[in-house]
Amino acid sequence: MKNQQNPSRAVFATRIGAIATTVGSAVGLGNIWRFPYEAGIHGGGAFLLLYIAFIIILGIPVLSAEFALGKITHKGVSGAFRTLRPGTPWRHFGIIAVICGIMILSFYSVVAGWTLEYTYEAAVGSLSDNEMSLHTAFDDFTSGWRPIMWTLLFLALNYTVISRGVQKGIERFSNILTPILFLLIIAFCINSLMLPGAEEGLKFLFSPDFSKITPQVVIGALGQAFFSLSLGMGTMLTYASYFNERTQVARNATITAALDTLIAIMAGVLIFPAVFTFSIEPAEGPRLVFEVLPVVFSKLPGGDIWGVLFFFMLFLASLTSTISMCEIIVAWLIEERKMRRSQASILTIAIAMLLGILCALSFSILPGIRLPFIGEPNVFRWFDYTSSNILLPLGGLLISVFTGWILDRRIVAHALTDRNSRRAHLACRLIIFSLRWVAPPMIAIIFILNL
Ligand code: TRP
Repeated sequence: MKNQQNPSRAVFATRIGAIATTVGSAVGLGNIWRFPYEAGIHGGGAFLLLYIAFIIILGIPVLSAEFALGKITHKGVSGAFRTLRPGTPWRHFGIIAVICGIMILSFYSVVAGWTLEYTYEAAVGSLSDNEMSLHTAFDDFTSGWRPIMWTLLFLALNYTVISRGVQKGIERFSNILTPILFLLIIAFCINSLMLPGAEEGLKFLFSPDFSKITPQVVIGALGQAFFSLSLGMGTMLTYASYFNERTQVARNATITAALDTLIAIMAGVLIFPAVFTFSIEPAEGPRLVFEVLPVVFSKLPGGDIWGVLFFFMLFLASLTSTISMCEIIVAWLIEERKMRRSQASILTIAIAMLLGILCALSFSILPGIRLPFIGEPNVFRWFDYTSSNILLPLGGLLISVFTGWILDRRIVAHALTDRNSRRAHLACRLIIFSLRWVAPPMIAIIFILNL
């Protein structure tokens, strides 16, 4: 997405194109890897309920706000704030976005690296006939040097895409991939529902135990809602700068949120029946999906082929997500630091590689350093926690205040919808209401509760 300043920048040709691309950014490891692991740590049903509530009351409004800002200005993060409120501190919003983006990029690339390893293992047939238990196999893998190799390889791949500015092609590609991933997940869900532990797994996921709700669970669900929708650091804002005049922002936001949430819930339906069937601990953390999926595949006819397909799709879905993160950082370096695209790309990827190595080593030799916010001494978890649960909601809070309070209400309303129906007016009113009176205080209260 180059040429932020160009007023005649490309626009999505079709309505479906605009939705498919935003869904493509939203759908990734966040749905299939992070959602089950967070739900597992935070007790299942209660977490799911809070997550859905946050998607509806905060996610859709903040997503609409990002869309509106991008659609009004046709600019990326820093350009959008600078155009709307020139010379004010709002232009520094980009700094949060860049710090947060680099943190997410670092740990996300480690997990994307795991998907590469598992694709490879499935392809050579060592995923299903492994004498070790999957728990030990994961430990064995993450304590070696291979995770580092895959992380670096994955980031190098990102580099080749962003340094050439050819992400448009990749995005088009992702429009075909997301539906295929969707179909694969449906097939695996059906398979999971026939497992003996299906009832217990579904009970874990869908029956909320309210006694399990703690401030940690609340902030976990809030962070997951933001992470999964790629919210809070201007990714969606940048995509929306390619919307055309007639794009219905409120409707797009609702459809994107609904599809993204559906895929996360389906990932839960895929994972938890297997967790209970094969006696895996639901609160395993980041490794959960990588221990569960190989067992699921090994029990299927032609197991390894399913493994290759699924992990490869997951890898591609991760790539489309990380490219959107890289692009935020690279665009900021080009606009604010006046770098060339090639320099900005090298710098971004080099920092992500360094931090990515630290994240990869968190599962093996990195000594326990005490870090704020989380109990465990684990750099990977710290990056994950701080970016998703603190920086993204903080970004969301700022975006809500800006769109709800600073901008002229009529401009926002016009960007949200140009329809004159009662439904459109109601949607508009609800979104603006949330941006003013719900999102900012709610996020602030959740932060305060956590301190
Ligand atoms: N939403 C993506 C996922 O679920 C990850 C992602 C892409 C993201 N861009 C982002 C998360 C920007 C936060 C911010 O995998």
